[in-house]
Amino acid sequence: MTYAAITGWGKCMPPAVLTNADLATFLDTNDEWITSRTGIKERRISHVPLSDLAYVSTMRALACAGLDPADVELIVFGCCSYDDQVPNQASGLQAQLGAKKAASMDVNTACTSFLYSLSTAAALIRTGVVKNAVVVGGEIITAYMDWKNRGVAVLFGDGCASVVLQATDKEEGLLAEKLGCDSDARSTLVVEGMGCRYANQGRILGHTNWIFEGPEIFKRAVLGMSGACADVLEKRHLTADQIDLVIPHQANLRIIDATAKRLDMPMDRVIVTVDRHGNTSSGSVPLALDEAVRSGRVQRGQLVLLEAFGGGFTWG
Ligand code: COA
Repeated sequence: MTYAAITGWGKCMPPAVLTNADLATFLDTNDEWITSRTGIKERRISHVPLSDLAYVSTMRALACAGLDPADVELIVFGCCSYDDQVPNQASGLQAQLGAKKAASMDVNTACTSFLYSLSTAAALIRTGVVKNAVVVGGEIITAYMDWKNRGVAVLFGDGCASVVLQATDKEEGLLAEKLGCDSDARSTLVVEGMGCRYANQGRILGHTNWIFEGPEIFKRAVLGMSGACADVLEKRHLTADQIDLVIPHQANLRIIDATAKRLDMPMDRVIVTVDRHGNTSSGSVPLALDEAVRSGRVQRGQLVLLEAFGGGFTWG
C-alpha cells in the first residue's frame, strides 16, 4: 500500500506587524477586548502578492525535502484570496518554481482549504496518479478586509506555508482524514464583494461587506472540528490520549480551547499561534505545523491531529 509522507515544510510571513494598539488608532476597539475574546495580540499584513509568499514558503519546503522543483508532479494551492481568478494561483507558482512537470490546481474551501488540499494531494499519491506533491495554504485576506468593521477587522492576518508530500511504502504521513460541509450555515459567513455575483453593481473591487455571525460560527466550529476529530480517531482505533499533538485552525483561542475540552485534550498538547498570526485562513494550519516542527514540538513517529473549519461551512 502507498502512503503520502510529509517530507518538507516551510513558511513565509510578511514582516509588517499590525498590533491591537495599531487597530485601536482607527477602530472603536482595544487590546483588552481583542485579547480576552480571541487571544489575538497581533497579525501580519503583506506588501507583496500571495504568489511571492508562496514561492518563498515552497522553496523552503522543497529544500527541506531535498526535492528539485523540476521533479514536482503536482501543486495543490489552497486559498480563497487569489492574486487572479484566471489564470489560477497554482499555475503561477508552477511558473515561479520552474516546476514544468507539475499539474496545478487551486482548492477553495475558505479556511479549510489547506486540509482539503492535503487530502486531495494525498489521495492522488495513494492511487499512484503522482509520486509527490506540493501543498500550499496561504492567504492575503487583508486585501478583502472591511477595515470599518471592528467585528472582523481585528480577527484576520496574512501568511503562507507549504508542505511537500512524497509516496512511501511505510505507514506514515497522512493516516486518516474526515472532510465535511454544513451548507445550512453557509449564510453565516459571506464576504460580499468577492465574486462575479457583484458585477455591474457599481462596487469598487476589493470593497467588501462581511456578513459574519461570530457566535453562530463559534458554536458550529467547535462541533464541526470535534466531530471530525472523533471520526478519524475512531477510524484508526485511537483514543485522544494516544495523540501527541493537536494543530488546530487558529481563529480564536476560545474555539481552540473549547474544542480541546470536547476531545479531552490538555492544552499543553495543543499548538497555539493565533496570538501572533491572527486568523490567516488557509495559512493557519500549515503555519502552525511549520512552527511546531521547527520548535521541536513534533518528533518523528508521533501522532498529530490537524483540525480546521471555514466558510461554506466546511470542516476537516
Ligand atoms: N472591539 C470592541 N467591541 C467589539 C468588537 C471589537 N473589535 N467587535 C465586536 N464588539 C462588540 C459587539 O459590538 C458587541 O457589543 P454589544 O453587546 O454592545 O452589541 C460585543 O462586543 C459582543 O459581541 P459578540 O459578537 O457577542 O462577542 P463574542 O464574545 O461572540 O466574540 C467573536 C465575537 C467574533 C470574537 C467570536 O464570536 C468568534 O470568534 N467567533 C468565531 C468567528 C471566527 O473565528 N470565524 C472565522 C471563520 S474561519
